Order: sequence, then C-alpha cells, then structure tokens
Amino acid sequence: MKDLSIGLEGVVVAETELSHVDGLEGQLLIRGQCVEAIAGNLTFEECAALLWTGSTSPDFREKLGRSRFQAWHQLSRQPQLLTLHNPMDAIRGFVGGFDATGDLFEDALTVTGAIPVMVAAWSRRKNGEDPIEPDPRASHAEDFLQMIRNKSANESKIAALDAYLVTVIDHSLNASTFAARVVASTRSDLISAITAAIGALKGPLHGGAPGPVLDMLDEVGEPHRAHGWVRAELDKGNRIMGMGHRIYRVRDPRALVLERCIDRMSTSSETAERIKLAKAVESAALKELAIRKPDRKLCANVEFYTAVLLEAVGLPRNLFSPTFAVGRVAGWCAHVMEEQRCGKLIRPTAKYVGPRP
Ligand code: COA
Repeated sequence: MKDLSIGLEGVVVAETELSHVDGLEGQLLIRGQCVEAIAGNLTFEECAALLWTGSTSPDFREKLGRSRFQAWHQLSRQPQLLTLHNPMDAIRGFVGGFDATGDLFEDALTVTGAIPVMVAAWSRRKNGEDPIEPDPRASHAEDFLQMIRNKSANESKIAALDAYLVTVIDHSLNASTFAARVVASTRSDLISAITAAIGALKGPLHGGAPGPVLDMLDEVGEPHRAHGWVRAELDKGNRIMGMGHRIYRVRDPRALVLERCIDRMSTSSETAERIKLAKAVESAALKELAIRKPDRKLCANVEFYTAVLLEAVGLPRNLFSPTFAVGRVAGWCAHVMEEQRCGKLIRPTAKYVGPRP
C-alpha cells in the first residue's frame, strides 16, 4: 500500500480547467483569469456561463431568471421545508426534490435558480412574512436581495453582492466540490451530486465561519480594544475566526477582492464603523499570530470580509452559509460536468486497522 494521506491533504485526484489555487502566491484563477480581474467585471451569470461552457453567454441571465421562476412554482410542493430550523437543510431538501432530467445543462440551471428562491423564501417565513415571487428579468444578485427584503436594493449593494457571488463561485477541490465530483464519478445525476455538495458545505469546518466573524466583531466592539481582545483570545487557546487557511500561506486573494467591494459600496456610517473595526481586528490578529506562530503564516481568509460584506448588503447572519451556496452552486455544476466528461470512478482505499479473524 502507498503512503497514508489522512484527509487527502496534498493528494492530486483530478485534472481541472475550471479553477486553480496557488497558496504560496495567493492566486486564484477562474478559467485562467485572476479572481481580482473578474469579480466586479463579470456578472455572476457571465461567470457561471464561463465555467459551464468556456465563454460568457448573453442569454444566460434570461435562462437563469426563468429557472428561478420555475423554482418558485415548486415551492408550494414542499411547504414543510420553509419551517426547517436550518436553511441549509431547506436548500438540501429543495434541490434534492427535483427530477433529474439527465441533461446536465438543464439540471444545472434548475439547481442554480432554485437555491436563492428557497433561501429567500425560508428567510421570509422565518420572519413571519410571505415569500416574494422572483422577477425573472432581474439579475440573480438583484432578485435574491429583492426576494429577501421585498424592496429593491441600491445599485452599489447589488454590485457588491454580485461581486461576492463571483468571488466564491469556485475554489478548486474544496470539500463540497469534491463531494459533488465523487457522486458524479459514479455517473449518477447532477441533482444528486449537488445535494451531496450542500450537505458537505453545511459543516462548520467548511462554510460556517462568517457568522462567528461577526460575533467576534460584536465582542471586540471598538477598534482600540482589538489588540487586547485578540491577545486574550489566543491566551485562552481559541482561534481567531476568519484567519488562517489550509492552502493559503499569504492573504487569501478573495479577502482583498471583497475588501475592495466594501470600500466601493456607498455605506451607512454604521457600516463604515464596522469596516474600521474589521480592519483593526485583522491587523491586530496578523501581528499577534505572527509573534505566536512564526512558522505558519496566518492571514485573513475569504470569510473575514464575507461577514462584513454580507452584513453591509443587509443580509442577516443566518443566511451567510446558504448565500455562499447561491454562488458556489455554479462551480459545483461545472465540476459535475467536467467529471462526467473526463473523470474516472473515485474510489480511494482505506488502511484497515480493525481486528482480523
Ligand atoms: N487562530 C489561531 N491559531 C490558528 C488559526 C487561527 N485562526 N488557524 C490556525 N491556527 C494555528 C493552529 O492552532 C495550529 O497551531 P499549532 O500547530 O501550534 O497547533 C496551526 O495554526 C495550524 O493549524 P491547523 O488547524 O493545523 O491548520 P489547517 O490548515 O488545518 O486549518 C483552518 C485551516 C481554516 C481550519 C484554520 O486556520 C482555522 O481554524 N481558522 C479559523 C476558522 C476559519 O476562519 N475558517 C474559515 C476557513 S476559509
């Protein structure tokens, strides 16, 4: 048997043309382009089309709008999903309930349109309000905000959310994408693969840090308290949320993209204070972690500024993980298409350590 690699760390199991993460250089490529170059320049719809087909397609916005509208009509078939405690369970149940047509592109449109519709409907029902019908003519980001808040958001917030969805659209073989590829490698259908990916994303080690980042900012309260708070937290042996990454040894490039989006957003004075506080906490954490862990560079990851951005666009923190799924689902679908095109059944081996007869 070959060497054991618990957690498959560093093991290459597939070839992909979709995205590449260079953890030492701090670079994320999406179909050959740096994430900094596409977030804010390509819309979510264009970027999804780029991942699925290799080029941005002008009619994709309309197709996705239609798909949100079709998803809306499926909502009434599963009303119990709107009452579930965790919105990730609601989207997993909703996506899992669709018929798989076997046409990868059609099924990809179905799930990509379905997730924001369910997240928004779940959120409204949680607040005792009626779900809002999607507007198929709106952009994906605009419609998502509108379905949640029942009013149109200002342009800068729509643009920030759109850039966020592009920033998180794909990130190589993370756990949820790998889960989707494992299912696709058995030649199962796309609906099943995406249902598995949602299950993987639900775990707190994957998509769950932005909520705790805001909890941390709430606790710190004022920028001048950042240093003392970080020191005390590390003295207690706790981790600083939104810092560190399995692959990046420099600052996560997505943190910079999101930070720029926030800076460009016309924000309330409350948000401006929040940003000041976040920057003070990041800088304190960076300094203190460099002293305490000099051999392992721990910098801000994507979750740090995700928290600040999603709060600034007006989303409540219980929607942060499912909003991540609104963006990442396009990457999952692209990986399922690629896996079905050129993959091989993924079937690793375990080292048996149990008793023998
Ligand atoms: N705060 C304090 N110390 C941290 C840290 C953080 N955020 N992240 C890592 N470390 C320390 C660990 O305590 C460990 O120290 P040790 O070697 O003295 O035990 C060392 O750095 C390596 O940590 P490890 O857990 O082995 O690294 P990993 O690559 O498996 O972990 C994360 C990556 C993201 C899970 C980790 O950095 C973390 O927990 N970050 C906070 C949660 C977070 O932001 N998650 C979102 C990720 S996108």
